[in-house]
Amino acid sequence: MTTPRVVASIEGSELAFALLLQDGFSGSAFAATIKRELTPDFLSWKYSSPAGKSVLAVVERSGVPIAMVSASPLRLQDRNAGVRRAWQIGDIVTALPHRGQGLFRDCLAALVASLPAGDVVLCYPNANSRRELLNQGFTAVVDLAYSARPALWWSRASVNRLVKPLSFFGDLLHLGSHDMHVARDADYLNWRYLDCPSRTYTVLIEGAANNPEGVLIFRRFNDVLPIAVIMDLLGTEAAVVRLLSQLDREARKQGLPVIMTIDAQPVGEHPTYPTMLRVPRPLQPKRMTLLAKIAGAPTPTSATSAEWRRTWHIQAGDWDGL
Ligand SMILES: CC(C)(COP(=O)(O)OP(=O)(O)OC[C@H]1O[C@@H](n2cnc3c(N)ncnc32)[C@H](O)[C@@H]1OP(=O)(O)O)[C@@H](O)C(=O)NCCC(=O)NCCS
Repeated sequence: MTTPRVVASIEGSELAFALLLQDGFSGSAFAATIKRELTPDFLSWKYSSPAGKSVLAVVERSGVPIAMVSASPLRLQDRNAGVRRAWQIGDIVTALPHRGQGLFRDCLAALVASLPAGDVVLCYPNANSRRELLNQGFTAVVDLAYSARPALWWSRASVNRLVKPLSFFGDLLHLGSHDMHVARDADYLNWRYLDCPSRTYTVLIEGAANNPEGVLIFRRFNDVLPIAVIMDLLGTEAAVVRLLSQLDREARKQGLPVIMTIDAQPVGEHPTYPTMLRVPRPLQPKRMTLLAKIAGAPTPTSATSAEWRRTWHIQAGDWDGL
């Protein structure tokens, strides 16, 4: 048996980790899209965010990583507890020849044990990792909904397309009324969307970059059907209306006839816009369930998970597959 090593940096070994991750992902169109992005630059970006450095539990053979699980820090805005730290379990992989030997189980246990007691640990697993996460005390908080609608051709609103960093103070999501969410300050949004080396996002802002009334971020995602996925939509009521209208226009310009959202509460809906239609499970690229636990604590009680379910506000930008 090999005990996993918990490391706080992969500096100098980015290529070896990128190759391990690329090897691990094959099969579906969704996995193939993720695989293309898994470059050394992408990992350097992802493992060093404004919230801090990621930690990894790793098993190596002859100095080469063969299994890993990563956790990246996030700042969670909790209406009751203020800002608290959370960790998102992100990359989970065991090299093909070493599967079925308990390496994922050991890496996950070592990683969670290394996190400070009391921190929130969350994960959006796939079908391969879900069972083991549940076995290790995670609980299912909420299934995210996929919704879609055609982009409207008559939309005319004009707001700014952001080409420079945002520079406002505070948490933009407080413009709405939300309980628990990943804090959307300028540092986070700039890192998440403008600094990402592998993906291109369109950032629409209503108002000035240093004092926006609202922000909408979307990404072209087109392996199956060209669609615009709303990553984040934050702002005042009036700003949201204009941003949604501009989104339709931008999506059309970019050749994207469909708009999609993935979230716990429907962010892309507004009374003045057509209702979004729920995407049935067989057409969803991946079942998105938020799993969570508190480091150092036993499995959350059903009362805790009901409270989380009620308060947790999630948009697609809260997870790392898009
Ligand atoms: C998922 C993965 C990391 C499992 O690695 P592994 O080292 O073989 O897993 P382990 O041997 O530690 O298995 C631990 C438990 O995980 C579960 N598990 C492992 N592979 C699984 C699979 N393909 N489907 C469902 N459950 C699986 C089992 O419950 C297993 O417990 P058991 O031995 O009692 O049956 C590996 O198959 C992989 O790299 N897959 C491709 C990448 C991927 O899908 N990553 C998850 C991203 S969220």
